[in-house]
Amino acid sequence: MEPTTRGTWGSKLGFILAATGSAIGLGNIWRYPYVTGQNGGAAFVLMYLACVLAIGIPVLIAELSMGRHTTLNPVGAFKKLSRSRSWPVVGYLGVATGVFILSFYAVIAGWTIAFIFRTLLHSTTSFSDFLADPYSQLFYFAVFLGLTLFVVLGGVEKGIERWSKILMPMLLVILLGLIAFALTLPGASVGVQFYLNPDFSKITGSTILAALGQAFFSLSLGMGTMITYGSYLSKKDNVVTSAVAVGFSDTLIAVLAGLVIFPALFSAGLEPSQGPGLVFNVLPTIFEQMPAGTFVGVLFFVLLAIAALTSTVSLLEVPVAFLVDQKGWSRAKAVWIISALVFVVGIPSALSLGASAGLTSFEIFGQTGFLNMMNFLFGDVSLPLGGFFFSIFVGWVWTTRKASEELSLGAESSSKFLLAIWGVLLRFVCPVVILVVLGQKLFGF
Ligand code: PHE
Repeated sequence: MEPTTRGTWGSKLGFILAATGSAIGLGNIWRYPYVTGQNGGAAFVLMYLACVLAIGIPVLIAELSMGRHTTLNPVGAFKKLSRSRSWPVVGYLGVATGVFILSFYAVIAGWTIAFIFRTLLHSTTSFSDFLADPYSQLFYFAVFLGLTLFVVLGGVEKGIERWSKILMPMLLVILLGLIAFALTLPGASVGVQFYLNPDFSKITGSTILAALGQAFFSLSLGMGTMITYGSYLSKKDNVVTSAVAVGFSDTLIAVLAGLVIFPALFSAGLEPSQGPGLVFNVLPTIFEQMPAGTFVGVLFFVLLAIAALTSTVSLLEVPVAFLVDQKGWSRAKAVWIISALVFVVGIPSALSLGASAGLTSFEIFGQTGFLNMMNFLFGDVSLPLGGFFFSIFVGWVWTTRKASEELSLGAESSSKFLLAIWGVLLRFVCPVVILVVLGQKLFGF
């Protein structure tokens, strides 16, 4: 038995669902479509798929193996597996990244709650007026953070696992229904073209970084979420096949979301490169035209809110597990203190979409506004950077040989071949690609 503050998943399916719950969220439905829109469509989608397969899934397996082997949070896992003082710094980076990502993620997640009511009540306030109202922004942000806090207080099995079970199948069904409808809209085919017919002249260094960042963000990689979730896995579970299942479902939901958004976007004559507001501008145009649109719209935003919640829970779980394991805090104390910190850090993000002119319009690192800056720094830079260190650490320091021993527990011998491919990708492809892409973007080489 683990000490009482740590849990384990109730079942193997429970883990897959929870890890999928962490992976599937706003990353798929909010971030993926707008990043695809900003990066020219289909060619970006191909880059994204390549990043998921060649880099995302190998890093996912690496994180899970570290977590299950050590049954610890990211900082503890590095401490247990290496005597060097430097490696745990990567774990600290992950813990901090969790706080920073949660601080803006919960702002956007708050919009999903607001949109439940906007759809239900046929609100006439425009989206930009809503964004510019500081009270609404802070209110929904606080509500969403409160929900997250509530679930995480409940602990691993009761809190996280239960939610994930019902949600994923429902989300899939509603997306399929929306695709069927979106494709019938006038002018939809232009959107399908944009989304599925690649124009490779649109690929640049920043496209590749965006694809890599999106793969890490969407799969919840590079900050130790999957180390933490892996630490609750039982030795009887097959880590490799679980990782593939998680990667596949996450990618499927994102790709399907694009098939809803782009046909509807072009049909409504909206701009694909408009940034973070994209899906919140497009989706209402679908629900307005659809039979029973209010009902479908409300259901959709409820599902999206729950999908976001299973992700915010995993973001909060990383710093909480760190404080519980390493500092001996009680779960409740860790949850309250981290949530309060996240709220304070998130205030500038909440006010940076119109409420405060200064926070909305300042430019830095090629990004406009505070929330976009945070999204870039922690989504596109910090996660791949963490992934770089994870691949070096598991590939070369802890070694793929020892990690493979861990990974063979619960796996049939047929996984040997898969493990060999994994070793090559993790040791060579991941670090080299991440280094080149990040270096190119940040230092221009
Ligand atoms: N993967 C989540 C999503 O796509 C976001 C997330 C990132 C969660 C990093 C945990 C860690 O919405």
